[in-house]
Amino acid sequence: MDTSIQNTTSKQDEILKKQRKYLFPNHLLFYSSPLPLERGEGWYVWDTEGKKYLDFFAGILTTSVGHNRQEVTSRIREQSEKLIHSSTLYPNESHVSLAEKLAEVAPGNIDVSYFTASGSEADETAVFLARAHTGNHDIIALRHGYSGRGAIGMSLTAHGNWRSPGTEVTGIKHAINPYCYRCPLKMTYPSCGVACADDIEEVIKMTTPGKIAAFLAEPIQGVGGFITPPSEYFKIAHEIVKRYEGLFISDEVQTGFGRTGSKWFGIEHSGIEPDIITMAKGIGNGMPLANTMTTTEIAQSTLKAGSTISTFGGNPVSCAAGLGVMEVLEKEATPNHVEKMGRLLRVGLEEIQKSSNVLGDVRGMGLMQGLELVKDKTSKEPSPDAANQLLEAARKEGLLIGKGGLYGNVIRIAPPLTINEDAVIDALEKLAKAFKQIG
Ligand SMILES: Cc1ncc(COP(=O)(O)O)c(C=O)c1O
Repeated sequence: MDTSIQNTTSKQDEILKKQRKYLFPNHLLFYSSPLPLERGEGWYVWDTEGKKYLDFFAGILTTSVGHNRQEVTSRIREQSEKLIHSSTLYPNESHVSLAEKLAEVAPGNIDVSYFTASGSEADETAVFLARAHTGNHDIIALRHGYSGRGAIGMSLTAHGNWRSPGTEVTGIKHAINPYCYRCPLKMTYPSCGVACADDIEEVIKMTTPGKIAAFLAEPIQGVGGFITPPSEYFKIAHEIVKRYEGLFISDEVQTGFGRTGSKWFGIEHSGIEPDIITMAKGIGNGMPLANTMTTTEIAQSTLKAGSTISTFGGNPVSCAAGLGVMEVLEKEATPNHVEKMGRLLRVGLEEIQKSSNVLGDVRGMGLMQGLELVKDKTSKEPSPDAANQLLEAARKEGLLIGKGGLYGNVIRIAPPLTINEDAVIDALEKLAKAFKQIG
């Protein structure tokens, strides 16, 4: 064996070498030189070279209560020493307890759960449920939306970058989305009267038999670049959807669990009651855990499609982690805490915007804030280069942030919900320095 190579190669290089050799090349990796992470504590993570970073993307909005939280890790440890797996064939205490807990915080009459292991599965379950309940086939989703992998997830997604050609399933149509910074109708809010919402009706009339199974939307479009609809949008959308017999599915995979501030779920800001909500990411704090929730009445329709099983659905260890997450959120990262931290973050971001010609739009709610980067504020031409440069510059400053948007030009800021004032101020200082570096 050539030990000289081993001695001179860092752990980071070894990981990157194996990544290139043994993993599919289509894994999207942030940074020109990807960043292998080794451990985390609260809102900090460390790379394999020992460098510390402030984690303001939380995985992908997933470590809702931060890394290595005792309330979560001790439950994982205890449950894994008792029973790691049972499948949905056997009832299990952590499975039913988490369902009970989520029924407490879910809006309206939503109180019945079907747990799976990923957001893609949660959305797929919602689509099956809506079709079974209504007897209708068509689903209306929104352009710039993201619903995950798999044929249904990719078909719901309206983002060329994330769809695999030829995998589309039938019956999924896309209406234009409420993207005020780049209005698809070239209108201006509020004088537009939220005209974009009318496209939902147009699409239903033009492309369906006049009855739909459901409308599925994210309260804030996450991967799409934290696109935040005007406050009236979902009320109008809901009225249209009900007129055509559809169920309203709120995809809360990113916006759930207080992320948007002051409410547990993003759709609650609109004052409408969804029929189905899907969730994942933040509920497991990194453990594979997702959920589709609905009302007792709608859930009865699942029986029309026959019984179902899931090998990993309701996994006892993942559900135990979910119970730990809820405990931390309720005592220390309530929606009101998120609202307060989100306001502090927002004020700081708007301050940075004043002195930057590339920061075209600051948007979002709570601890879900997006920065749309442009060549200049007048042309509003998307600048993926500026976003890449900012990501690299922030990394140098010891700050991890995310990226998204159709053009890859939107910075996504979404720290753990437990974050405190000092950390928000620290992140803003690091970000301001990063902006200075990109000019
Ligand atoms: C809104 C939304 N729905 C669904 C998904 C799919 O979740 P997963 O990656 O867990 O399959 C994602 C993932 O980013 C998402 O953001």
